[in-house]
Formats: sequence, structure tokens, C-alpha cells
Amino acid sequence: MLVAIVGPMFAGKTTELIRRVERQIIAGRSAAIFKPSIDSRYDALSVAAHNGLRLRAVAVPPDESGVREIAEEGAKYDVVAVDEVQFFPPSLAEALDGLADDRLVIAAGLNLDYRGEPFETTMRVAAYADKVVSLTAVCKICGRPATRTQRLIGGRPAPADGPRILVGGGETYEARCRRHHVVPGLREGAGAPRRIGGRRAVG
Ligand code: ADP
Ligand code: TMP
Ligand code: MG
Repeated sequence: MLVAIVGPMFAGKTTELIRRVERQIIAGRSAAIFKPSIDSRYDALSVAAHNGLRLRAVAVPPDESGVREIAEEGAKYDVVAVDEVQFFPPSLAEALDGLADDRLVIAAGLNLDYRGEPFETTMRVAAYADKVVSLTAVCKICGRPATRTQRLIGGRPAPADGPRILVGGGETYEARCRRHHVVPGLREGAGAPRRIGGRRAVG
């Protein structure tokens, strides 16, 4: 059984992952939690939610060696959880799909990057999932459900040409709804059509 928990930052993905793992531990099952070693926001030995909840975790490199480690180590447990799956290569999806044949696998990850582009690994994991839990946060501008993550630099929307990976929390990111998500300089491209002078700032 593979459960994918997806959504923007602050949606409660890590909280939900911890809640589900904790219930399995109460039921007497062995559980391993993995996270990418890139996520150094809190300490290396736990997954931590924005509200302070935490559970012990193993930090593995967000590359093919980390995927192998999750597949090999994870096979020793009844329950395998992976947080921040967006930082791992897409091959993580097949590794988790394989593990899920014999155990419960819970995977949490970001739906979209700050530009609004899908994170491939999260989407791939969600495609294999038996159940997808799609969570929303609260838009910091209007209070409606937020499905996007706004990156802010000095309090201003970050331009589209910034790095895709930038570890951070409330000092750099906030949850926004579709209407209030702004990406200055987003080019017209292969993705969904972008509105000019509409909801998204262009140029
Ligand atoms: P995620 O892993 O999806 O980023 P967490 O589980 O770490 O989410 O954190 C969820 C917590 O973040 C909420 O319980 C709430 O306390 C806090 N939070 C901060 N900003 C927001 C927001 N804009 N919308 C919802 N929750 C928020
Ligand atoms: P969270 O989903 O548990 O809040 O953590 C998301 C992490 O991903 C956080 O460290 C910030 C990072 N991040 C990026 O690296 N690039 C992005 O485009 C976004 C939106 C977040
Ligand atoms: Mg999280």
C-alpha cells in the first residue's frame, strides 16, 4: 500500500506523515522514516513540521545512492515513510512502488516548485499511489485554501530565474492561493498558458 501526501508548503504534509507513522508504531509495527540530507532546517535525525512536531528519521543523500539505501533499509521494516520526496530523483517512485508490495509506504512531497512547475518525483510517486492525500494550506493574502508556495526575497516575490532548490521555512516562503501566487519574469513556455496582465506578473 502506497500513500502519497502532496501539497504546498505549510499544508501539513509532515504533520500528516508523522500522524500516520505514529499510529502504525502504536499498532506495534516497525517503522523507518527517511528524509533527504539536504533538508537541514532542523536537526539531521528527525523530520520536523512547522508546528514543532518531530519524529526520528534517517537522513540519506538525495541521489541514486539515497534511493538504494531507502530500498534496502526500508525492506527491513513494516512501514516506510519518506518526507520531502521532491528532492530525490524520479527513480524513488519505482523504489517506493516496489516496497509497497509488501508493506505500508507513506511518502510526502511538494506538488509544485515556487514557479508553479510540478515536482517530477512527487508526481511520479502520486501516480503509483493507492491513495493520494492532497492537502491545502491557508493563503497568507486572502485566507482561502492555498495550493501554491510563494518564494519571497526581502519580502518581494522571487523572480522565475532563481534556483529551484532553496531550503527554507517561513522566512523565505508563504502559502498562497492560485490568485495570489506571483512569479515575476515567468516566460511563456511549455507548461500551462500564462496570463499576461492577469493573475500572474510577467516581465
Ligand atoms: P508541510 O510539511 O506541508 O510544510 P507542516 O506539517 O510542517 O507542513 O506544518 C503545518 C503547520 O504549519 C500547520 O499546522 C500550521 O501550524 C503551520 N502554518 C504556518 N503557516 C500556515 C499557513 N499559511 N497555512 C496553514 N498552516 C500554516
Ligand atoms: P515543506 O513542504 O515540508 O514545508 O518543505 C519544503 C522544502 O522545500 C523547504 O525546505 C523549502 C524547499 N523548497 C524548494 O527548495 N524549492 C521550492 O520551489 C519550494 C516551493 C520549496
Ligand atoms: Mg514538511
